[in-house]
Amino acid sequence: MINITEIITEGKGKRVYATERADEAIVYYKDEAIAFHGLKRGRIIGKGEINNRICEYLFTLLAQQGVPNHFIRRLDERSSLVKRVEIVPVVVKVRNIVAGSLARRISYPEGTRLRNTVIEYCLKDTEQDDPLVNLTHISAMRLATAEEMHQMEQTAIRVNEILIEVLKEISIELIDFKMQFGRFHGEIIVSDEISPDTCRFWDASTHEPLDIDRFRRDLGDAEGAYREVLHRLTGYVYKSSEEDT
Ligand code: TMP
Repeated sequence: MINITEIITEGKGKRVYATERADEAIVYYKDEAIAFHGLKRGRIIGKGEINNRICEYLFTLLAQQGVPNHFIRRLDERSSLVKRVEIVPVVVKVRNIVAGSLARRISYPEGTRLRNTVIEYCLKDTEQDDPLVNLTHISAMRLATAEEMHQMEQTAIRVNEILIEVLKEISIELIDFKMQFGRFHGEIIVSDEISPDTCRFWDASTHEPLDIDRFRRDLGDAEGAYREVLHRLTGYVYKSSEEDT
């Protein structure tokens, strides 16, 4: 039994608790879904449990492939024990195919394959919808060192390669995703979550989104999409739902 001491932060899809152990935190995954700076709110039943299991699977895979990350172990249906990091206030977005804000920004149709992987940096500031910044902004604002940024970029590229590979085997195309990193005893490690809340996953044959865009864009059956990703990845069939609190 690990005792919770306080809430460190509460985001769109999860709550993070401090524990009596200074180096460890507990992530609790919620069913709540929020989009468009909180203008759209809803619930995807079972999302918390499913994301908890998807993160367990993907973070374990990354660790096996030599990518350090915050995951320690899954504690129960909705929570996992993680390393307590100092979050780097820069969100890293990795894009293989044009979608979302990039499609709007460069006026390219969604679904256009990019000749090379695009890495974007955004200020972690949900009030301002994570504005795009570049390396000189990051340095000028002292958000991270050049060495940290280099490491984050290299890690993001490696994570992209690993995810593309594992998803290809289950007929899912990785369109784009966002990552966050944390500082832990002088090391930069992958933090936050990697799930259909933070990635665009398209079914490789139908090109249907299997991620939170189903909720954002009212495409229907978001629950089914989350269950499908978990099942294809791990073989686990999600059935019951523990009450989200
Ligand atoms: P974007 O196209 O809206 O900028 O999103 C790029 C990627 O980042 C996409 O996979 C979804 C993810 N993302 C989040 O995880 N949270 C967010 O709040 C936003 C805006 C995007």
